[in-house]
Amino acid sequence: MEALVLTGKKQLELEDIDVPEVKPNEVLIHTAYAGICGTDHALYAGLPGSADAVPPIVLGHENSGVIAKVGDEVTNVKVGDRVSVDPNIYCGQCKYCHTARPELCENLSAVGVTRNGGFEEYFTAPATVVYQVPDNVDLKSASIVEPISCAVHGIKLLKPSPYQKALVIGDGFMGELFVQILQAYGIHQVDLAGIVDEKLAMNKELFNAKNTYNTAKGDKVPANEYDMVIEAVGLPQTQELAIESSARGGQVMMFGVGGPDAKFEMNTYEVFQKELTIQGSFINPNAFEDSLALLSSGKLNVKPLMSHELNYQQVDDFVNGKLGVVSKAVVKVAGEEA
Ligand SMILES: NC(=O)c1ccc[n+]([C@@H]2O[C@H](COP(=O)([O-])OP(=O)(O)OC[C@H]3O[C@@H](n4cnc5c(N)ncnc54)[C@H](O)[C@@H]3O)[C@@H](O)[C@H]2O)c1
Ligand SMILES: [Zn+2]
Ligand SMILES: [Zn+2]
Repeated sequence: MEALVLTGKKQLELEDIDVPEVKPNEVLIHTAYAGICGTDHALYAGLPGSADAVPPIVLGHENSGVIAKVGDEVTNVKVGDRVSVDPNIYCGQCKYCHTARPELCENLSAVGVTRNGGFEEYFTAPATVVYQVPDNVDLKSASIVEPISCAVHGIKLLKPSPYQKALVIGDGFMGELFVQILQAYGIHQVDLAGIVDEKLAMNKELFNAKNTYNTAKGDKVPANEYDMVIEAVGLPQTQELAIESSARGGQVMMFGVGGPDAKFEMNTYEVFQKELTIQGSFINPNAFEDSLALLSSGKLNVKPLMSHELNYQQVDDFVNGKLGVVSKAVVKVAGEEA
């Protein structure tokens, strides 16, 4: 079968490899679509993602497909089921797994990071991380349940309440997901700060963002205004803006990922005076069911955000930043007919 293999740092090769064997607790999935994101950028460049990827490896931690084979011990899915895979595999044995914080697992492994993922015609996954896709959700949308689940996890950590006024900083794919999902969780007003006029306009028209600010064009985000601020860029200036724009009693989610050594300036008096909560968020435990329900109910519409459908050859262009403004790119591996 065809597979796009990361053979070394910044080296992707289309290879012909064997269809993998299925262990008793695993399923074999005929891949439909595989999403591609900043983590793939990092892994391609030899940097760590949620875990280290050691070449040769097939990336594709965001994916969907149809079950082609099940191992002897598998009872939750059957051949022909349409599925999406939560890439993260937790050990179930460490202090963090034992205290309901599996995302912090000391022995995290992941489909498409530490074991082969969706950039190949068939891949395997433990049945425990495989989710049935509702009939009214297409497999293309189902391939991006993983990033949706990262946003859902972040919001769940914040315990949202309808009275809150929220600001999302960052008009990339994750920020755009937050605009919709915050409203689905009951937040009554969501504003968006970004740098791309078309994206800000789209979020206002399609996704009910109330006020939008183009900070690159000098729009000023009001200070001390927001009960909840989601920083989804990862730069010092946007992290500083997140603190500054939060109201008294505010919750600040540092969702964006900065460089490993990056720092931002924070006035701790402001943290004291406003009684701020500053929250990190790492990956997406126990969020797939909620994400699939958001898609199935129509509360989350990802179609307008899926800007690029690529083939294997174009993945190279994506990871080299040659595709221009990309909200979300997915690779069509076998497509709906998978
Ligand atoms: N915590 C997690 O589990 C998790 C999961 C997925 C992504 N992330 C992180 O979230 C961030 C956003 O992810 P993404 O996929 O949307 O990335 P992205 O690169 O698609 O989007 C970043 C966006 O930020 C916008 N931007 C740049 N400078 C800005 C500024 N000064 N003000 C406002 N917006 C600005 C750009 O328009 C760009 O579209 C990244 O840092 C990513 O690593 C975290
Ligand atoms: Zn991803
Ligand atoms: Zn663990």
